[in-house]
Amino acid sequence: MKNATGESFAKIILLGEHAVVYGQPAIALPVKSIRLTASLTDGTDQSIHSSFYTGSLQAAAHTDFAGIADLIAALLKHFNAVDAGFTLTIKSALPPERGMGSSAACATAVVRAFYAAFEQPLSRAQLLAWTATSEHAIHGNPSGLDAATTSAYRPQWFVKGQAPVPIQFPKNGTLVIADTGIAGQTKIAVGAVAKHLADDPDQTTASIEAIGQATVFAAKALAEDDLLALGTQMDHAQLALQALGVSNAALDQLIQTAKAHGALGAKLTGSGQGGCMIALAQNARDAQTIRQALTQAGATATWQYDFSEERTH
Ligand code: MEV
Repeated sequence: MKNATGESFAKIILLGEHAVVYGQPAIALPVKSIRLTASLTDGTDQSIHSSFYTGSLQAAAHTDFAGIADLIAALLKHFNAVDAGFTLTIKSALPPERGMGSSAACATAVVRAFYAAFEQPLSRAQLLAWTATSEHAIHGNPSGLDAATTSAYRPQWFVKGQAPVPIQFPKNGTLVIADTGIAGQTKIAVGAVAKHLADDPDQTTASIEAIGQATVFAAKALAEDDLLALGTQMDHAQLALQALGVSNAALDQLIQTAKAHGALGAKLTGSGQGGCMIALAQNARDAQTIRQALTQAGATATWQYDFSEERTH
């Protein structure tokens, strides 16, 4: 096994979370300035160092790291190296449990590191198949969107069960991302929507379809560089996400603050019930104003993503 590194990025869902689990489309983007790296170096035993878990591979079985530990064990088996010694160091700038795809980013970087260490080519389809296994173990019923986006280099149009398609973003516009500081667990939030669907199928199906429709209209707005229309669709999606019960008071407050300070649209991003929200600003200057207001309103961290960044890559 060679020394090797794999990397991945934070993901932001622009539109379509939760509805994507039920077959509706989603639009999501990798944020390349917020990254995770997994580095493999020679070792006498099988040890892991990270902010999620530090210890032996074997002892990770009953921890929150179990899904990734199972993935590592499966990779070692795949490469006929179950007893190989290594040290795996994971460094992440992604806040965990904040809707930025931390677990999918971790799985993606780990798979890339092992394939590089064993000097094997890794296709995108193979990568997504590996990450689907660990995401199932961690989240129960994932759509695959998180893994598809944390491993991507461009914004993606995504439909469950289909290959993700790169999507063009406008020349202008800036997204502000703000963290409520409250952990939100994907498995619990996805389970809450499933319960809503069982309890009130008509209303829940209408909300899921409304999110799907907002995503379709948002794609049109992106293609036409129409930021106002994009903001409107983000607001529509947020109303439907509230109806699904996955927003909360902290998210709602940050969303209202962003809107009161000039955001063209604002919504939660990721699984919700905590985690992060996003706000669309006309330009980087407006984004600064919104960021400051969000910090004053209690956001524990903010980030900025200019759509123009995409056009240079
Ligand atoms: C979580 O980042 C996105 C959800 O739609 C779940 C999924 O797509 O697997 C809530």
